[in-house]
Amino acid sequence: ERDGKGCFSERLPPKFPGLFQRPGPESRATLKTLNTLGELSMSETDVFPVPQAIADSALINNERYLEMYKASVTDPEGFWAEHGKRIDWIKPFTQVRDVSFDPHDVRIRWFHDGTLNVAANCLDRHLATRGDQTAILWEGDDPAESQAVTYRDLYERVGRLSNALRALGVKKGDRVCLYLPMIPEAAVAMLACARIGAIHSIVFGGFSPDSLANRIQDSECTVVITADEGLRGGRRVPLKTNVDKALADCPSVKSVVVVKRTGGDVPMTAGRDLWYEEITAVQPVDAPAEEMEAEDPLFILYTSGSTGKPKGVLHTSGGYLVYASMTHEYVFDYRDGEIYWCTADVGWVTGHSYIVYGPLANGATTLMFEGIPSYPDASRFWRVVEKHKVNIFYTAPTAIRALMREGEEPVKACDRSSLRILGSVGEPINPEAWIWYHRVVGDSRCPIVDTWWQTETGGILITPLPGATALKPGSATRPFFGVQPVLVDGEGNELSGATEGNLCVSDSWPGQARTVYGDHERFVQTYFTTYKGYYFTGDGCRRDADGYYWITGRVDDVINVSGHRMGTAEIESALVAHAKVAEAAVVGYPHDIKGQGIYAYVTLVAGEKESEELRKELVAWVRKEIGPIASPDVIQWAPGLPKTRSGKIMRRILRKIAENEVGALGDTSTLADPSVVEDLIANRKA
Ligand code: PRX
Repeated sequence: ERDGKGCFSERLPPKFPGLFQRPGPESRATLKTLNTLGELSMSETDVFPVPQAIADSALINNERYLEMYKASVTDPEGFWAEHGKRIDWIKPFTQVRDVSFDPHDVRIRWFHDGTLNVAANCLDRHLATRGDQTAILWEGDDPAESQAVTYRDLYERVGRLSNALRALGVKKGDRVCLYLPMIPEAAVAMLACARIGAIHSIVFGGFSPDSLANRIQDSECTVVITADEGLRGGRRVPLKTNVDKALADCPSVKSVVVVKRTGGDVPMTAGRDLWYEEITAVQPVDAPAEEMEAEDPLFILYTSGSTGKPKGVLHTSGGYLVYASMTHEYVFDYRDGEIYWCTADVGWVTGHSYIVYGPLANGATTLMFEGIPSYPDASRFWRVVEKHKVNIFYTAPTAIRALMREGEEPVKACDRSSLRILGSVGEPINPEAWIWYHRVVGDSRCPIVDTWWQTETGGILITPLPGATALKPGSATRPFFGVQPVLVDGEGNELSGATEGNLCVSDSWPGQARTVYGDHERFVQTYFTTYKGYYFTGDGCRRDADGYYWITGRVDDVINVSGHRMGTAEIESALVAHAKVAEAAVVGYPHDIKGQGIYAYVTLVAGEKESEELRKELVAWVRKEIGPIASPDVIQWAPGLPKTRSGKIMRRILRKIAENEVGALGDTSTLADPSVVEDLIANRKA
């Protein structure tokens, strides 16, 4: 059943009782019928029109959006030839695109005869005009700690590290793993790699030594850059110790560069480990930027899919930077001089595109936050907004839902008058959380851009533009320039009008991933064979009568826990690696704060006893194997799993039981042993 096309249509629409209530047919009937994209005329309870002040001053109003969107899809060559010029090229491109989604010949190249350096675009080109402007405004975990790093400081720090990495023998094309906390050195390390043409692979600090080792091995990194310890919510994260454990199994790694963050006592291996501060202090600040081809790799970022190990999604230089910078400017209506804050971690794609590359290419001041929303208390986000006069604020629905629970007081206690635009990313935002974000955080003044995209898309694909798009809570609304979303049924037939289906994209955009590192066949298989001629996103989606898109969640065996993407297969392999576990099946279920929680059905090996102690042991085991973000929320002991006569686990039934939709199990006649299901229902964990 895993990966089966049948399950895509069967799973739509997902049921998120209470939490994800979309406007039903009744409320949709109150919307007057639409014309084309843009000309909306709807009831006020469903739609938040563009505030006049924003429409008047925004970079893009609705008329302009419609005009530009049309140009971008009728003449993509001309459109991107123009917008490709927004970054500095060493050798200007003459070729705009070379694209094929044919599964026998998947080719994605943009601006491919141009050359550039991404770090020079983020640093050097700003020095003359904004050398003294703050590039990175860093806010520590401890509210007493902050730092303003100017464009000139950042240029110099990047230059020193670039030289230090070159001195360690790192050259163009080599892979460097970054396992760092949210400190300015994380951005410095990314940009230093980009400057010398090395490919960075960032691993989120919440991943375990095993997960780190797998990622280092897959891309054969030669250097790891880490810190002694991270600091989150007052607690120390043992980064260097985790690296030491991981490296027991990573022969490709020659050097480990360690940033002193906490000053914690960490062992250093002679001949391998070096202090960041020592090796950079002795280097000059100027480092020549490597001339890179547009299609030379910039970074690898591992992400989970339906099956197998995480994939190393590969992004290249020219198209990625054009797309990241353009979306950052237009989606957030970014103006020179504004303070922009994205709360993501650089370990995820959002941090890559919208903390570092997009904002810095645009000469923005990007706020980087080391801590968590609940430390020292639930008003932390808003205190930071007040302290740094943040204008644009971009976060995940899971944070909004958690903060919503704390009531309005922690928000109202802080001055948020600087806020102009709010953003949401990573998972569907339920209308209730949207309305709270809008009314309480934004004082009903600030448009919310609900941005839909993926690690593989490099940048935002479906989103409102603040000055152009009337908003509907819970909808990512309309496609960005050049993006052509398509909904298809289980057989790959394109569906038209107001409908629901599997979300695909029919043509390329410059920020699209180019391959899976070391496994192009897997790239083709995963994204281009399910529905021929399209890029398949793995998401389900509804399109309403106004042409607005409503993402309904994954239609494959990927779950989204607190905006973190997890493969259920990975959690299952971790569970069955435990000596007492015979079999395991993992599914998502609706969770009030996390969006989805992790529900694991576990069959023990014969003779092992179910106990609360063993349940805790298994949770700890998964944390150790993958990392805390993969901790199962629920473990249900399952004497048997529902299987077909040919032995396939019927995951559809397990999802229904976890979602408490036991009245809607569907056809169970193909089960080898129907009594298994009764047992699972009877012992369901609330
Ligand atoms: O299911 C969609 C969900 O997150 C998935 C992508 O996860 P990842 O590659 O980790 O990137 C997250 C940050 C871009 C998508 O397939 N998703 C992301 N943004 C939204 C969303 N679902 C609904 N609405 C969104 N705005």
